[in-house]
Amino acid sequence: MATIITNFALYTMQVFNTPKKVIVTCNKRLSPYLQQEIQDLGFTVKRSFSTGAELFISLDDCIKLNLNLRCASQVLYSVAAFKAADANELYKEVYALEWESLIESTGYFSVNSNVNNETISTPLFANLKVKDAIVDRIKLKKGIRPNSGSELDKTVVHLYWQEQDAEIYLDTSGETLAKHGYRKLPGKAPMLEALASGVVYATAWDGKTPFINPMCGSGTLAIEAALIATQRHPGLYRMNYAFMHILGYQEEIFFENRRQLKAKVKKDPAPPIIATDISEEAVRIAEMNAKTAGVDRLITFAICDFEETPVPETPGVIAFNPEYGERLGVHSKLEVTYKRMGDFMKQRCKGYNGYIFTGNPDLAKKIGLRASRKVEFYNGKLDCRLLEYELYDGTRRN
Ligand SMILES: C[S@@+](CC[C@H](N)C(=O)[O-])C[C@H]1O[C@@H](n2cnc3c(N)ncnc32)[C@H](O)[C@@H]1O
Repeated sequence: MATIITNFALYTMQVFNTPKKVIVTCNKRLSPYLQQEIQDLGFTVKRSFSTGAELFISLDDCIKLNLNLRCASQVLYSVAAFKAADANELYKEVYALEWESLIESTGYFSVNSNVNNETISTPLFANLKVKDAIVDRIKLKKGIRPNSGSELDKTVVHLYWQEQDAEIYLDTSGETLAKHGYRKLPGKAPMLEALASGVVYATAWDGKTPFINPMCGSGTLAIEAALIATQRHPGLYRMNYAFMHILGYQEEIFFENRRQLKAKVKKDPAPPIIATDISEEAVRIAEMNAKTAGVDRLITFAICDFEETPVPETPGVIAFNPEYGERLGVHSKLEVTYKRMGDFMKQRCKGYNGYIFTGNPDLAKKIGLRASRKVEFYNGKLDCRLLEYELYDGTRRN
């Protein structure tokens, strides 16, 4: 009798070189920058949406994405899609999958999810059902139960379940890619690294002219600018990803990708990048983070009021991420600060493109300059704008 090999059996043996649907997730509104990064790596985006992009690629390709992308959060490789009305159906479908080909029976895995099904009151219950199905299946086939829990540093399974439509993914990233691994000290109200790189991409900066970042806090914008200008990618700072814990993983592909990342790093003279802050503690933290990222020699740091920030004559980009009252600072004081930022840019930064990233539209009005562009972002759940000002000699007031 002919052996029937199901589709699933075929690709579980070869996930690393079998193209499948892949979803790359990102924070809301980072999608245009993520899409550009994916295309720059030579991949085709089949579909993009506000929190990510869909591709058709293998798990080996996912390794490249994990190591290169600055704006991504997770790279999810689809294993199976099916209908499930409730938790029992979910269990049955997940149990039918060949987990023994993907997860080591003596290994460890975790399950996370995005669930919207009326029979489920908490996603934790759906996670538990998926976990039980995987453990029971592997126990049946191998006689041993793998360990499971909430840690994301080994194999990670992701459930996406909306109404009756369920899809199971291997989360090839594990810990989020949105953190870039160099920020050992956060400082006050730091910007997420993926957001900071999106902000740098959204400016008109060419990576060659000066990048000035007064109010640098923990240095995220200046550090991301230095990383982008010198083509240093997040994979240089991270040695553990969830894809390494999937059966069939061969480390040569990872090390080859890392070699390529190292070869890409630009040795040419870097552009002037200047980061200042009024807080001595913030500058100390920013310097340490820059050191961890290997770009401390590319950034000139100073402790000063933003008005004392040195501005090179050759115009480039000046970018502020001031406090905006949501988490830090007091409003009336901030109103004065916002007006001073507008005056400083107008008087001292002629020829530059100026940017202020803020989540407070009332304070933004105090800047007193007319924005040439307003780029939408989210900082966490807060609706924010990157306001662009063309600081030519005749910059108009509001
Ligand atoms: C929202 S935080 C910047 C966060 C930064 N983007 C990061 O990723 O860590 C604002 C920073 O502005 C600094 N600051 C406030 N008033 C200032 C002033 N007048 N001159 C310079 N820096 C100032 C604060 O010390 C704080 O570090």
